[in-house]
Amino acid sequence: MEYSFPRYLLAKQSVDDRALNKDVLAALRAEIAALQAAPAASQPFRVIEIGAGIGTMLARLLRWKVLPAETEYTLVDSLPENIAFARQWLPQWAQENGWSAETVSEEHIRFSACASVPSAWSVSIRLVQADVFDFIHSFGSLPGDLLIAHAFLDLLPLPESLPPLFSLVRKDGCAWFTINFDGVTTFEPSFSPAVDALIEKLYHETMDTRPGGGDSRTGRHLFGYLQQNGVEILAAGASDWVVHPVGSSYLADEAYFLHFILHFFETSLGHHPGLDSHLLAAWLQQRRAQIERAELVYIAHQMDFLIRC
Ligand SMILES: C[S@@+](CC[C@H](N)C(=O)[O-])C[C@H]1O[C@@H](n2cnc3c(N)ncnc32)[C@H](O)[C@@H]1O
Repeated sequence: MEYSFPRYLLAKQSVDDRALNKDVLAALRAEIAALQAAPAASQPFRVIEIGAGIGTMLARLLRWKVLPAETEYTLVDSLPENIAFARQWLPQWAQENGWSAETVSEEHIRFSACASVPSAWSVSIRLVQADVFDFIHSFGSLPGDLLIAHAFLDLLPLPESLPPLFSLVRKDGCAWFTINFDGVTTFEPSFSPAVDALIEKLYHETMDTRPGGGDSRTGRHLFGYLQQNGVEILAAGASDWVVHPVGSSYLADEAYFLHFILHFFETSLGHHPGLDSHLLAAWLQQRRAQIERAELVYIAHQMDFLIRC
């Protein structure tokens, strides 16, 4: 199997669509409406998404009609491969979904409404390939009305990263922090309860000891960290990934998503001193065969937050 990170992010879309907490999403819609109705509302509405990958959240927010009619969307990711993919993929997605797309420059794409979308809508998209902290330090534009970090905060050193991240949001603006991993991974059916438990525990430990930061219990820890930062939690709730066969296959490209999750396990634990490499190989082999037979169920516990800054 060829492992492509952009394809993994594409395959993750349908899993995330189901997982995103719909109460927190409803609170986001209400907050955007309130920000737009305020006398000091900024026009266009400014969104900054950090760790944005290939831009699938922008596509989702357009599909779900969450964004106001005039939006400026800055998409920041450190991986050049992701930004290069977004540059090709976003205009293609736009055209397939009733928008017209114009590539203004390498860093700037403009979507405007055509037949199937209300006529006044337009989205100006800025693609930024940068480490988030370099982006913050060199940040020359106005802070956003909305900051988004989706499946990203659990990769950062917390809580110390939060104050710089909040500098990207204007006063009374909001932040939507979604898919924050929260310490529970489950595969069914069992390989052996003891081996499953060992592999899951060691995998979580690798998240806690990454050189660049990361915490396998980011979800629960965010409650305290956000409080310490003096921001208001408007809504919070679980956003678990639940991937299971439907009939004799998986939905969309979710079999590939599952293979990629196993690839994360293989690369993280391949040379782990606390795990026999033959045992890991046998575990991976059985899990891969379970995907092929459409038997494997995978659950990861995560949390979403909506915050007023
Ligand atoms: C798990 S992926 C999520 C991507 C996207 N939010 C999604 O869900 O499709 C995490 C993303 O964060 C990016 N990333 C990791 N560390 C970063 C950093 N320090 N600054 C900016 N982006 C970073 C990676 O390149 C990757 O695209």
